[in-house]
Amino acid sequence: MDRSDSAPKVLVTGGAGYIGSHAVLELLGAGYPVVVLDNLSNASPESLVRVAQLAGKPAPLVVGDIRDATLLRELLAREKVSAVLHFAGLKAVGESVEQPLAYYENNVGGTTTLLTCLAEAGVRRLVFSSSATVYGDPSEVPVPVDAPLAPSNPYGRTKVMIEEILGDLARSDPRWSIAILRYFNPVGAHPSGRIGEDPRGIPNNLMPYVSQVAVGRRAELAVFGGDYATTDGTGVRDYIHVLDLARGHVAALARVLEHAGAFTVNLGTGRGHSVLEIVRAFEAASGRSIPYRIVDRRPGDIAQCYADPRSAADLLGWEAALDLESMCVDAWRWQSRNPQGYSGT
Ligand code: NAD
Ligand code: UD1
Repeated sequence: MDRSDSAPKVLVTGGAGYIGSHAVLELLGAGYPVVVLDNLSNASPESLVRVAQLAGKPAPLVVGDIRDATLLRELLAREKVSAVLHFAGLKAVGESVEQPLAYYENNVGGTTTLLTCLAEAGVRRLVFSSSATVYGDPSEVPVPVDAPLAPSNPYGRTKVMIEEILGDLARSDPRWSIAILRYFNPVGAHPSGRIGEDPRGIPNNLMPYVSQVAVGRRAELAVFGGDYATTDGTGVRDYIHVLDLARGHVAALARVLEHAGAFTVNLGTGRGHSVLEIVRAFEAASGRSIPYRIVDRRPGDIAQCYADPRSAADLLGWEAALDLESMCVDAWRWQSRNPQGYSGT
């Protein structure tokens, strides 16, 4: 659907990053004009250059910080946005344990500054990037959206705090319309091979690590634990294609543009895959072998976590469509064509 003539403009915080850049492309494809605000602390502006090329439409970037109220006020006065997709934040669990204040300041403080400026500007429609990390070690799988919240690290606690702030805000003023999206494990890349995940330094997450082993940047994968109570002893997660996630954002945006109030959904496939299943699927997709070694469990890891995604189907008419093979094929196309990520350009 193309809404270009009359469509509401969307501010995308963190839109130069991995998930944000895919969401910007999806928004442009659906006809929403965008403006991105990103401080480039974990992204390259090249992602949006490529998004604009792929979309054949502008993907303007304002380089700046969500903690900068002066900049936000100017931007909101100038751009006349109707809604916000709020991706900006720090996301490395280990780093959040070492530098909790940086996480509370950036994620929680940044969000309250953003919300204050949005309220002043009369922009009260927001889609927020939460995470399955809010559930901690879930007591049941698939995890229902009303499962207890028990984050086990500062990063996860920033997500729970922001969710609570958003709930309080929606209760305080019925004009707010807020979607809280709890992503499971986003992976994959746009099928063009032009945009994808480009982690700085050694990847924390499985799929980018596996991709870098396949392309020869790293020697072997360390599999964190082979003695979990799962099918093959390795950890099980709900991997979701970033394109499905991007579509979920456009569906959530459509809902917040139409309905007031706050709602929360899980964005996952509802299926779990083990680490060794990922290794095998990636080998098949890439034609490369992925040497691996089973090592000790990673502290703080859980055995298994996958979504009950029914709330997203009910509220958004959304469900994940792309399977593990597509996730690996698309991740490999991105990695093999951009072995050094955006810095190779
Ligand atoms: P990312 O690091 O690629 O994107 C985040 C973007 O926000 C980056 O471009 C970064 O430069 C920007 N940013 C950070 N702090 C900022 C600030 N103060 N002001 C302006 N820009 C700022 O990460 P991603 O994987 O695309 O994640 C996007 C969001 O989704 C994050 O909020 C993350 O916590 C959440 N999330 C990610 C995952 C995942 O596995 N990737 C899972 C669940 C939730
Ligand atoms: C991690 C974060 C979580 C975040 C999620 C999605 C931690 C402790 N948790 O979770 O907060 O919401 O990413 O961004 O970092 N694995 C290996 N070897 C590796 C990397 C991972 O075996 O080099 C295994 C893990 O043990 C796990 C699976 O692969 O079983 C997935 O790991 P990862 O991609 O880091 O995601 P999560 O553990 O779900």
